[in-house]
Amino acid sequence: MKKNLYSQIPILLIGLLIFSVACNQREVAQVPGTVSKKAFGKLPDSSLADIYTLINHSGITLKVTNYGGRITAIMVPDKNGKPEDIVLGFDTLSGYLAANPYFGAIVGRYGNRIAKGKFEIDGNKYILAQNNGINHLHGGIQGFDKVLWKAEDFKTEKSVGVKLSYLSRNGEEGYPGNLNAIVTYTLTDDNQLIFDYSATSDKSTPINLTQHSYFNLTGKGDIKSHEVMISASKYTVVDSTLIPTGELRNVKATPFDFTTAKTIGKDLLATGGNPVGYDHNYVLDSKRIKDLAVRVVEPLSGRIMEVYTDQPGVQFYTGNFLDGSITGKCAIKYNQYSGFCLETQHFPDSPNQPTFPSSILKPGETYHTTTIYKFSAK
Ligand code: GLA
Repeated sequence: MKKNLYSQIPILLIGLLIFSVACNQREVAQVPGTVSKKAFGKLPDSSLADIYTLINHSGITLKVTNYGGRITAIMVPDKNGKPEDIVLGFDTLSGYLAANPYFGAIVGRYGNRIAKGKFEIDGNKYILAQNNGINHLHGGIQGFDKVLWKAEDFKTEKSVGVKLSYLSRNGEEGYPGNLNAIVTYTLTDDNQLIFDYSATSDKSTPINLTQHSYFNLTGKGDIKSHEVMISASKYTVVDSTLIPTGELRNVKATPFDFTTAKTIGKDLLATGGNPVGYDHNYVLDSKRIKDLAVRVVEPLSGRIMEVYTDQPGVQFYTGNFLDGSITGKCAIKYNQYSGFCLETQHFPDSPNQPTFPSSILKPGETYHTTTIYKFSAK
């Protein structure tokens, strides 16, 4: 009995070493103001994905792979200067290749839902995959989160970044037009992570690109004690399949009111829904990039995340569908409410909702939008 136990020790030690290397990979001290590139692994079609490490001069490290434009880690210092990884995800490419709910991904061609996977432009009818019950979600079966983007890194005096580009062919996932999409991630020395999205198409197409990172400003546990403020006095009411009814409802005196900061946990159970939690599109009061759209404060670590955007809406999602079945970085199980997403966007199902701001990109036009996540601690 004893002998057996001792014979296991080397195996346990090797296991521990592999585990700590995988975890520490996120904490290795590297040179500020640099971008470096490493192989991340092979996709099923044998193409190779890379992972980029971007380090600014103010203590933030960002890791991004060109597979789905996925952000795999963001190390942000707390109020005492101790960095922690504040996004959910995996240490290896295989984690991202296995089924997972868009961890860290660029979402497109159309973020969020299109009712019954159908829409019409200029009398032409289009049919998309129904990959979320009867509806189309996040660009379909092989959306922008599951494709390999071309990547180019860059450096300026006060920032480091990666420019990702992808040609989505006419008919891909049912969408019309050859669409050239470019998404640039810039990490500045004043701790802004800037997402710049642009695209052109040779046929009219809906487009709604966003970022699906799940944040947990403590790095572990649930997010219920995070304090949130959203500059939105209305949200889009949805039916039981999460498709907007068309009604923009006042948040006042409802669990959806975040116009003054409150914890996520405060009214979480009162939101209803199945599963219960926030999974709602907020109608932002301002579309000016200079105006604060969302502010999240985590009181223990002192970490603060602010969102600025020129988009009309933001999907506030509290990880309601996470159920502990996925194990991520450092063997952390992702349970319900382990992370929140702030997906800046056009309103869900806009292609079928004539009263919503239009999300149609026409040939000859350029789609261009910017969102900023700004980090600090105090
Ligand atoms: C978005 C949707 C949610 C869910 C997640 C992914 O935030 O609004 O309903 O589909 O993506 O699981």
